[in-house]
Amino acid sequence: MNLVELEKIKEKALEEHIPIIMDDTLEVIEEYLKENKPKKILEIGTAVGYSAICFTKVLEENGIIDTIEREHTRVEEAKENIKKMDLEDKIHILEGDAVEILPTLEDKYDVIFIDAAKGKYPFFLKEALRLLSKDGIIFADNILYKGYVLSDYNKHKQRTAVRNLREYIKETTENEKLDTKILEVGDGLAITKFANR
Ligand SMILES: C[S@@+](CC[C@H](N)C(=O)[O-])C[C@H]1O[C@@H](n2cnc3c(N)ncnc32)[C@H](O)[C@@H]1O
Repeated sequence: MNLVELEKIKEKALEEHIPIIMDDTLEVIEEYLKENKPKKILEIGTAVGYSAICFTKVLEENGIIDTIEREHTRVEEAKENIKKMDLEDKIHILEGDAVEILPTLEDKYDVIFIDAAKGKYPFFLKEALRLLSKDGIIFADNILYKGYVLSDYNKHKQRTAVRNLREYIKETTENEKLDTKILEVGDGLAITKFANR
């Protein structure tokens, strides 16, 4: 992989205030992917393709990533970046709202990375559980949202997002069929698998 080009994509995104995955969160996910070599990854929230490009470093040889993005200008930039990195055969962008696209998907995924509208996390979880392979894993980024989620934060501005992130945590930690860890890396990362009980 051309790491100089990858660094340029990252720097440009940061300069333009496009929210991309934080380094410590990426490290945790990459560590898991290295050990498990997934074949199929689903990402909800492409932005300009940075995280998807990073994940290809640790995919199984014939592995692929489907990634969903609703903002057309970001889709265009992601396509350019993916082309520059010569990864068009590995990363497929599904353009549109994940709320509409997810219910149309049928294939199972080994890894699902949720990194889009926080107010939709409970819906994304429901769909991710339907699409997850038996030994698969779901990563949900920004789950602690600047610390608001575990505090008594109740201001109007981000209230819906915070309520929905709390609901995601409640569902994944209280459902007996699931095992979930919440890590305080980056903006908070929830890691969920089916329980082996
Ligand atoms: C945090 S960024 C994704 C960053 C990317 N995963 C990375 O680390 O390089 C979230 C992206 O999700 C997109 N998004 C938010 N809600 C969405 C939805 N309901 N459907 C599709 N895309 C959505 C936003 O437009 C934004 O580009």
